Amino acid sequence: KLIHVILSGGVGSRLWPVSRKSMPKQYIPMFGDKSLFQLSAERNKHLVSQALVVGNKENYLLSQADMVRADIGFYDEIIEALPRNTAAAVAFAAFAVQSDDIMLVTPSDHIITNENAYAQAISEAVGFASEGYLVTFGIAPTKPETGYGYIECDENDVLSFREKPDSDTAKSFLESGNFLWNSGMFCFQAGAYLDELKKFEPEIYEASLAAFSLRSGDFLPTEESMLIPSKSIDYAVMERSDKIKVVKASFGWSDLGSFESIWEHWEGQGENHRFVKNNCVVGSSKHVEFLGVDNLVLVETNDAILVLAKGSSQDVKKIYERLEKEK
Ligand code: GDD
Ligand code: MG
Repeated sequence: KLIHVILSGGVGSRLWPVSRKSMPKQYIPMFGDKSLFQLSAERNKHLVSQALVVGNKENYLLSQADMVRADIGFYDEIIEALPRNTAAAVAFAAFAVQSDDIMLVTPSDHIITNENAYAQAISEAVGFASEGYLVTFGIAPTKPETGYGYIECDENDVLSFREKPDSDTAKSFLESGNFLWNSGMFCFQAGAYLDELKKFEPEIYEASLAAFSLRSGDFLPTEESMLIPSKSIDYAVMERSDKIKVVKASFGWSDLGSFESIWEHWEGQGENHRFVKNNCVVGSSKHVEFLGVDNLVLVETNDAILVLAKGSSQDVKKIYERLEKEK
C-alpha cells in the first residue's frame, strides 16, 4: 500500500508577518484560492491509496479544513503535543501503518509544477522503496543555498548526503557538479525507515514509540513527547544510512521558505506585477513606489509591515523568534 504522509509542523517563521503561528504559510490561500497544503493533498491523492497527516494541536483544524477542500473523505491523522522535528514525526507515521506499507513523505508547503513528471518520479521511487531503499528526490541546484541538504550521487546511487553545509562547502558542491539538492520528500517502507532510525538514533526510536503507544485517539501525550530528542530526519538518518537512492526530479520544485524564494518563484512565472523597479511587493493592495533603492522586499499584512533586503530573507526567522519571546 502506498500512503501519503503529509508533514505539517512548521510555522513558516521566515515568512513572518504573512505566516503566523495561528496561520502558518501552508494554509494561506496564496495560489488562486488554494493553499499549498490543499495543493499537496490534491497532487498526491490519485497516486496513493491513503493519506496520513502528521500535524499538531495548533494546526490540525486547519489541516482538516484543507483535506475537505481537497475532497479527501477519509484519512488518518496524528496530532503532536509539541513539535519534536521530522525524525520523530516520520516515526509516528511509520508506527501507524504496516511495516511493508510504502510511505511517500512530503512537506505540505512546497510548490511543484509539471504533475506528469512528478507522478513519473513517484513511480520510480516506489520501485526502489519496494526493494528496501530509502529514496530521496534530488533537485538540480541553481545556487549555493545553505538551507538545504545536498546529495552527492552517481545516477540513482547516493555517495553521500550532507545536510545544510556552510557557504564555502555549498559552493564547492555546486562546482563539483555531482550534487543535487534534497527536496525534503522521501519514499520508503515504514519498516525500512524504522530499522535505520533504531540503528542510528535508538533514543529517538524508543522515545517516539513510547509516546505513540500512549496516544489517546489521534493525540500524542505531552510529557512523553517532551522526552523525544529533536532532530531532523536528514541528520538522524539520511546523512548516515547506506541504503539511500535518489530519483532526480524533472518536475519543477520550489520550497517557498523565504521571501527570496518567493521572489524567484514569481520571477520564474513572469509575474511582473509583483515587482516595482527591482523591488518586490508581497501582500499589499496599496499603491507602492520605491525611489533610490533596489533589491528590497516590502511585505504588508493587516497589522504589520516588514521591509527587508532580499539577501536578508533567512534572518526574518530571528524577528519572529524575538516577537514570540516578547509575547
Ligand atoms: N509534523 C511535524 N512535526 N512536521 C514537522 C516538524 C515536526 O516537529 N518539524 C518540521 N516539520 C515539517 C515542516 O512543516 C516541513 O513541511 C517539513 O517537515 C520539513 O521541515 P523544515 O523545517 O521545513 O526543514 P528544512 O527546510 O530546514 O529542511 C528540509 O527541507 C529542505 C528542502 O525544503 C531538509 O529535508 C533539507 O534537506 C531539504 O533540502
Ligand atoms: Mg523547509
